[in-house]
Amino acid sequence: MLNQYQNLMDLFLRHLESYKINLIGKKPEELYEPEDYILSLGGKRLRPLLALIACDLFDKNPKLALHSALAVELFHNFSLIHDDILDAAPIRRNMPTVHKKWNTNIAILSGDVMLVKSFQSLENYGFKEFKKLSKIFNDTAIQVCEGQQMDMNFETAAHVSVEDYIHMITLKTAVLLGCSLKMGAVNAYTSEENLNNIYEFGKHLGIAFQLLDDKLDTFSENLEKFGKQIGGDILASKKTFLLIKAMELSDDRQKKDLIKYLGLKTIASDKKIECVLSIYNELNIKKLCEQEAHKHTNIALDNLNKVEASSLKKDQLKIFALELLKRQV
Ligand code: IPE
Ligand code: IPE
Ligand code: MG
Ligand code: MG
Ligand code: MG
Repeated sequence: MLNQYQNLMDLFLRHLESYKINLIGKKPEELYEPEDYILSLGGKRLRPLLALIACDLFDKNPKLALHSALAVELFHNFSLIHDDILDAAPIRRNMPTVHKKWNTNIAILSGDVMLVKSFQSLENYGFKEFKKLSKIFNDTAIQVCEGQQMDMNFETAAHVSVEDYIHMITLKTAVLLGCSLKMGAVNAYTSEENLNNIYEFGKHLGIAFQLLDDKLDTFSENLEKFGKQIGGDILASKKTFLLIKAMELSDDRQKKDLIKYLGLKTIASDKKIECVLSIYNELNIKKLCEQEAHKHTNIALDNLNKVEASSLKKDQLKIFALELLKRQV
């Protein structure tokens, strides 16, 4: 999926390695080992890559965006450690989640320190740049917390509309993709108009990205690569696009079943997943989710079009955005 930007990815990975060396042997080890653990498990490194891509898009040396790239990746990994506590998730990147491998207190604190270190990475910039980056980054971090709380609230809310859902995923996921691109663009000293357009591109790409994450949570065919518990959203009764759409389109029998199964906390996991999944299949929900993701990728591409940059580089980014729609991980 990311081959076309392999040089930028390598650049980031080298920077990350030099950051990680400082974690070795650091005390107290309960605080720093989980950080090394989660960072070493990999992941797609999408957000740091976006920061470097944006800097390069405006014809500046992508190295200028490395501290921004590290900031967004540390923040993302912090948010995953805490997200797995909130979602009671046992597996992340095919390995035990931090709160399962250690315990919840260790997951909270090691997440906290990563959050602080994400902000600290920006101290490497000069004052004016630091101030501008901090504003974007801090505003985004607060929005992510708001989105995560809404996600939790929706678990027990009776009615959640598609519009509510899109708002929630914009906050919990999409703004961080927009922020990553915008920070990289700030490092390239581009115009305000370009900053806004590249941000909107990333935000809509992020909405598509989370829609596909919801789809894969239920329908992933490559369990090992996906690396998370399949059906976790169904078990947690998450108000995903899949569930909201199914509730909207279901007949009386299907609706009764959905409400029954999702309300059951004690039912055997396999049975709950199987019943909800069979209703999703009857209603062709997977396809609808893909269509909704495609819609947002197209909005993203409209915004990319408005960006003033070399059309060659914009085309490359367009291909990347379309490739993301096909993702299996
Ligand atoms: C997972 O993000 C959380 C979501 C916003 C869906 P990624 O799918 O980017 O996770 P990694 O970093 O590749 O593991
Ligand atoms: C995650 O949404 C959003 C954040 C981590 C902020 P999910 O809860 O769907 O992410 P996964 O599926 O656990 O990676
Ligand atoms: Mg989760
Ligand atoms: Mg979550
Ligand atoms: Mg998910």
